Amino acid sequence: MNKMSKEKILIVDDDQSVISTLSFLLKKNNYIPIAAYTPKQALEFMQEHEPALIINDMNYSRQTSGAEGMELLANIRAANADIPVILITAWGSIDLAVAGIKAGATDFINKPWSNQRLLQVVSTALDLRITQSSQHKKELNRQALDQKYQLSSIIGKNEKLLQILTTIGRIASTDASVLILGESGTGKELIANAIHQNSARSQQAMIKVNLGGIPGSLFESEMFGHVRGAFTDAKSDRVGRFEMADKGTIFLDEIGDMDKSSQVKLLRVLQDQTFQAVGSSANRRCNVRVVAATNCDLNQLIDENKFREDLLYRLNLITITLPPLRERRDDIVEIAQHVLTQVCLRYGLGTVGLSQEAQLWLTKQRWPGNIRQLTQAIERAVLVNDNDELDVQSFTDSERLSAPKSLSSNELPVGSMTLEEMEKSMIKQSLIQYNHNLTQVANNLGLTRQALYRRLEKYGIIV
Ligand SMILES: Nc1ncnc2c1ncn2[C@@H]1O[C@H](COP(=O)(O)OP(=O)(O)OP(=O)(O)O)[C@@H](O)[C@H]1O
Ligand SMILES: [Mg+2]
Repeated sequence: MNKMSKEKILIVDDDQSVISTLSFLLKKNNYIPIAAYTPKQALEFMQEHEPALIINDMNYSRQTSGAEGMELLANIRAANADIPVILITAWGSIDLAVAGIKAGATDFINKPWSNQRLLQVVSTALDLRITQSSQHKKELNRQALDQKYQLSSIIGKNEKLLQILTTIGRIASTDASVLILGESGTGKELIANAIHQNSARSQQAMIKVNLGGIPGSLFESEMFGHVRGAFTDAKSDRVGRFEMADKGTIFLDEIGDMDKSSQVKLLRVLQDQTFQAVGSSANRRCNVRVVAATNCDLNQLIDENKFREDLLYRLNLITITLPPLRERRDDIVEIAQHVLTQVCLRYGLGTVGLSQEAQLWLTKQRWPGNIRQLTQAIERAVLVNDNDELDVQSFTDSERLSAPKSLSSNELPVGSMTLEEMEKSMIKQSLIQYNHNLTQVANNLGLTRQALYRRLEKYGIIV
């Protein structure tokens, strides 16, 4: 369906001024608004007019607990499981918005809303509904997917992967926020790239931000920019990441590693797509599609009060969970062969094969570091191998060679370094060894990533 056809939108509110404003805005943007002043009327009009979407104000003027709005939501859901419902809640009534999402609302916006944001939320909800029903959530096979979408960098045919690729195809063209979950090395960034590439924004920038690497004190100037003179070191204006990503996609990586004050600031900009550069009071507007990723368990972080639940709901209109490699062993050989071809090309080697035994051996490993670890294992094996085929020994030899040397061979005489110097040197060595993959560096050093970031900052190590 195209956007030119007029869709009916039911607005539920007991406040005449809200109804008029919303009706005017929707009409101007080619929708047909229908007004209902009470929950009872809303249910009647829903049957009568079959609207494509419902906007439900949770705060009726008679009472502000939102109970009436929640009850209406439950009744709408009981009558129709699929119709998108967008809630309007007062700024600050976060619990109500969160409860609404849990009870089946599609999305929420805060009062006072920005018209641009409201229209974006409405059209995204409608786009998602259309793509969902047109394919009945049926998953496609690899060939069909490749004909429809640009997914060539993502290797594999595993059933879980195909489901994910089908979802990507379905939602890429919408403005829906996407949260990508999965262990380290499972391909989250690759998936984020594919979402951008297959979207209408693909000709615009995709800006990647590693949130774990930005200390709280620098968050605002990094994300929103600053004006000259905003603080001592601000010698000139700086453009923030949101402005760079305008009309394109912003990829918020390591979203679970943000401190709570940064979370509030991020929530604000996601809420109404406006922000202020540090040192300026002017509101700037940006139009961005948000894709976020983490290997943290966000629900656990919410339970521990380390992550805001309302921020989660701003990010996860669509959630994609990537399986660890050990749960898609049927893809291991194909990925290995793909990586092998690429590595040989990169090093200017002729074709190198993979013996049957090596294929079996690769399939049986646990791969805690997932595809990244598999990639590295192949690269190392190619470097130690002299034959035209990699066998099991190429892998086991290369593993032994790359294992950390025993301490005795490079022990330092007491007093030659302070503990701090040693720590700094260890961090630098690990960064080189793990190719600046901070998750692996932190694991290797027995640190949490937060602790690693603190040390990087302390020692002024730039990654
Ligand atoms: N399906 C795949 N086919 C081929 N290569 C893949 C696939 N998935 C991931 N890779 C490769 O594996 C490596 C790790 O992928 P990526 O960086 O996207 O992982 P990640 O989930 O973001 O990891 P982290 O949590 O550590 O940031 C990359 O080199 C990527 O190209
Ligand atoms: Mg990543």
